[in-house]
Amino acid sequence: MSFDLRAFRDTLGCFATGVCIASAMGKDGRPVGLTVNSFTSVSLDPPLVLFCLDNRSESLSSFLDAPGFALSILSADQMALSNSFARDPAATRWDGVGAVPGKGGAPLIPGALAVLDCAHHATYPGGDHTILVGRVLGYAHQPGAPLLYYRGGYAALANGQG
Ligand SMILES: Cc1cc2nc3c(=O)[nH]c(=O)nc-3n(C[C@H](O)[C@H](O)[C@H](O)COP(=O)(O)O)c2cc1C
Repeated sequence: MSFDLRAFRDTLGCFATGVCIASAMGKDGRPVGLTVNSFTSVSLDPPLVLFCLDNRSESLSSFLDAPGFALSILSADQMALSNSFARDPAATRWDGVGAVPGKGGAPLIPGALAVLDCAHHATYPGGDHTILVGRVLGYAHQPGAPLLYYRGGYAALANGQG
């Protein structure tokens, strides 16, 4: 059976999402982070969330070795951060961000619409990605509008509301 990867990706892109930065503290004391839109809430009791990490990610081992990770849900005005954490070399992504450590030690993005601070709960194989499930230790949110991602590009709420 032939499988048209481009058409598959275009189909997945029809699901509008928010945009997060997933982050963790590396063993060497350096933060790691990347832009993700695979964030999903999983369970309320216990409080669990997940994201999917490409097995080719430079940060994979740091995420797997860390006691936890954080997800910072980006605001509409944080598109530049989203691009930086998707494209810039890992070593320079945190320059000037002013990250603050969460309860689990993972760096949180200032100005994010919401943050979820997680302890490592479980890891599952997911094809060419690894599914990381975190148990939420702390969370916070603030008023504002989210950064959205849809059909391969950024989008905003039509009413501009938060
Ligand atoms: C909107 C958006 C969503 C993304 N979602 C994911 C994702 O869920 N998982 C993932 O592994 N990469 C995702 N990426 C790609 C990574 O951000 C990108 O490949 C990054 O360079 C990986 O860095 P690393 O190798 O340091 O981990 C996304 C990129 C963008 C722009």
